[in-house]
Amino acid sequence: MTVTRTTDVGQPVGLHRIAHRCTLPPMTDPIQDSDHTEIVAQVLAATASGYDHLLPALLDIQRRVGFVPPRSIAAIAQHFNLSRADVHGVVTFYQDLRTAPPGRHVVQICQAEACQAVGSRELTTHAERRLGVALGGGDARVTLSAGYCFGNCACGPTVRIGDAVHGRVTAQTFDALIDALPGSSE
Ligand code: FES
Repeated sequence: MTVTRTTDVGQPVGLHRIAHRCTLPPMTDPIQDSDHTEIVAQVLAATASGYDHLLPALLDIQRRVGFVPPRSIAAIAQHFNLSRADVHGVVTFYQDLRTAPPGRHVVQICQAEACQAVGSRELTTHAERRLGVALGGGDARVTLSAGYCFGNCACGPTVRIGDAVHGRVTAQTFDALIDALPGSSE
């Protein structure tokens, strides 16, 4: 993973004022439902069947499809010799996994302790109002979800939009980030 450090806009340069911008593997655009079965089969064929490999397989499916298709749960369960309920439980337990296509933009606000201590809950309330969606929900434009630490704890509140991690986000800078997204004025 490539990590580039950028300063906050308008902030003096200093170690405690450095924001991280992480380049993560690109998420594949959501694709046609008919292709899901083949992609899931490819992921499973390349994955050992031990339980330790379940979560990485689910994350790989989500990276390639955009979400974990509910109709793939049976095949995944069979591959790992688990029940459908077991797999469903894992998919719904982990906040990073989703079972429906995301919006055009995925906005995650860190809810972990360090970010909470510097106002992530208040920022979340602002984001819900600004975007018109509740945390954990979304629409075709945007998915708003909770994150649990992006490794940027010293510069919270932290927001990840797509692949970019932003530190020391205020209500004002959040609005500026949203306004800068492609299609934000549509
Ligand atoms: S607690 Fe928010 S980035 Fe670590």
